[in-house]
Amino acid sequence: MTTAGNIRLNTGASIPPVGYGCWQTARADIAAAARAGYRAFDTATFYANEQAVGQGIRDAGLNPEDVFLTTKVWRGDMGYAQTLKAFETSRRLLDADVIDLYLIHWPQPDSRLITETWRAMEKLLERGTVRSIGVSNFEAADLDLLAQHSDVTPAVNQIELNPLRQRKSLVAENTARGIVTTAWSPLGQGGPVLHNKTLLHLAEDHDVSVAQIVLRWMLQKQIVTIPRSTNPARIVENLDLDGFALAPPEIELIDALSV
Ligand SMILES: NC(=O)c1ccc[n+]([C@@H]2O[C@H](COP(=O)([O-])OP(=O)(O)OC[C@H]3O[C@@H](n4cnc5c(N)ncnc54)[C@H](OP(=O)(O)O)[C@@H]3O)[C@@H](O)[C@H]2O)c1
Repeated sequence: MTTAGNIRLNTGASIPPVGYGCWQTARADIAAAARAGYRAFDTATFYANEQAVGQGIRDAGLNPEDVFLTTKVWRGDMGYAQTLKAFETSRRLLDADVIDLYLIHWPQPDSRLITETWRAMEKLLERGTVRSIGVSNFEAADLDLLAQHSDVTPAVNQIELNPLRQRKSLVAENTARGIVTTAWSPLGQGGPVLHNKTLLHLAEDHDVSVAQIVLRWMLQKQIVTIPRSTNPARIVENLDLDGFALAPPEIELIDALSV
């Protein structure tokens, strides 16, 4: 895996800034994404497609170690022993010796469940079966809870983020703690984001798509992103972000779209 342009995590590992979002995707989509050049894949136990992800990567002629693999522990699998078990299931399905990033998918009201899950993830880190551990959908208070119980800071907080929902204060919290932010649903699941007038104008000016404007904006802000598409042309398009750059005033225009 080439690491040029990758974002450094607090574990010393580095993550490709644009990965393929695997929710509701199948083996052929994964293979198409790998062939198109994606070298990071974001899946989860909840997506019930870890095996297809592993197979799709191999179908494209790659090995799991050639790519950055993220998966997540689901809420029903949380707890110390349960997490260790769920991780082994994920690792077997993905057919990978080592997983690059293991995330707690969602925080839970029971704080002990969170801290026990985190203790198991620290154990996986110690064993070397995972290279980095992190969280998803954590607010500042959830990050505080982990910090009170552990010396291991999450490498990543994966949160819903798009130009119309920028989560600026949470992103600042992540950054202040040395946590890299990953944006899930970066394209707003194909909804209003892609029809926003400001973004449409910028797309016209640069002769690219609105999706490319959104992803390029995240790239320039050092926010990791994981767009999903099952359309072969759009799979390619979403990774084709190097042919143009947004100028500082254009970045500011997008920054002004939400808080
Ligand atoms: N941690 C969490 O709790 C969490 C929650 C949700 C998602 N995620 C992760 O984030 C990933 C991405 O989020 P998402 O899947 O919800 O949605 P998304 O990536 O924001 O949007 C996907 C939608 O946008 C369309 N699309 C993709 N590229 C496009 C383009 N260039 N132009 C126009 N339309 C385009 C897709 O349709 P086509 O397929 O037809 O192109 C699809 O309907 C997921 O796959 C998953 O890995 C994580």
